[in-house]
Amino acid sequence: MHVQAITYDPTLFTDELYQRALLLLDPESSARIKRFYRREDACRTLIGRFLPRMLLHARGIPLADMKFATTEAGKPFIASYGVEPSIAYNVSHDNGVITMASSANTHNPPAFTVGVDVMKVRIPGRETFASFVESVGDQLTALEHRLISSAASQEQGLERFFWMWTAKEAYTKALGLGLGFDFRRVEFDPALDVLRIDGTVPRGWRFNKFKVTQDADVYQGVVAEFVGGDDTLVVSESGTQEWLTVLDATVFIQQAIQGLSS
Ligand SMILES: CC(C)(COP(=O)(O)OP(=O)(O)OC[C@H]1O[C@@H](n2cnc3c(N)ncnc32)[C@H](O)[C@@H]1OP(=O)(O)O)[C@@H](O)C(=O)NCCC(=O)NCCS
Repeated sequence: MHVQAITYDPTLFTDELYQRALLLLDPESSARIKRFYRREDACRTLIGRFLPRMLLHARGIPLADMKFATTEAGKPFIASYGVEPSIAYNVSHDNGVITMASSANTHNPPAFTVGVDVMKVRIPGRETFASFVESVGDQLTALEHRLISSAASQEQGLERFFWMWTAKEAYTKALGLGLGFDFRRVEFDPALDVLRIDGTVPRGWRFNKFKVTQDADVYQGVVAEFVGGDDTLVVSESGTQEWLTVLDATVFIQQAIQGLSS
């Protein structure tokens, strides 16, 4: 499993770069990107579309042969003919970070059971920490509420909340269900690194926690992947993470344009 994180600073991402990159995408991606009102939203999706394309490029597949499709529930997957071994991937983006988790997962083709979610650690808008937690409180379990309210500081409470939230998102994205899965069924204890579904630790899953910093901002993310077998493991963000690489968006898109145009 590998996670690629792209850090995106809108002030450095020129209009010329955006327009050149857009020309390389398929009509469906390009139409979706152009529909965004805000350029930043368009750029995040644009960068997210190039991430799996660069995986296929590394396999020697020409741009013209790169095909993508989505499941009925909207989960994207690679539909190019003859990609062996197959590539499982999932993309997530928030503010200044775009991430893709990818692996050779073979469970549940064609979209496979891998999901990622990344979020900027912050209290949105005019909320206080308490009102923010309250606003999503019905999607947290009783244990999760206790873990947040018993945190040693607001900072620790916020960090715990974002581990819980990104774990819920990553798990449901791995299943490909998106919003169609009750978040309260997923309970994550980030203090002990234990994840339960309907009160029981599921078998055969890996959950990798990671952090990315962009300027002064911290992002937390979780990858959820069904790998089979009996064991389930939560990989902490504190160890060495040779499975995580971070690259600047301008550099990444320049490389993508160069690689995919030739
Ligand atoms: C996509 C979704 C699963 C997660 O959204 P999110 O946490 O806000 O956003 P993230 O950045 O983590 O993920 C977005 C990416 O997940 C991927 N994705 C889309 N649908 C997915 C699904 N069903 N399962 C897994 N991944 C999905 C896409 O790559 C998408 O990127 P793109 O929008 O730039 O193409 C969620 O929005 C959803 O369920 N959508 C389907 C229903 C819908 O579209 N509702 C909109 C009106 S409420």
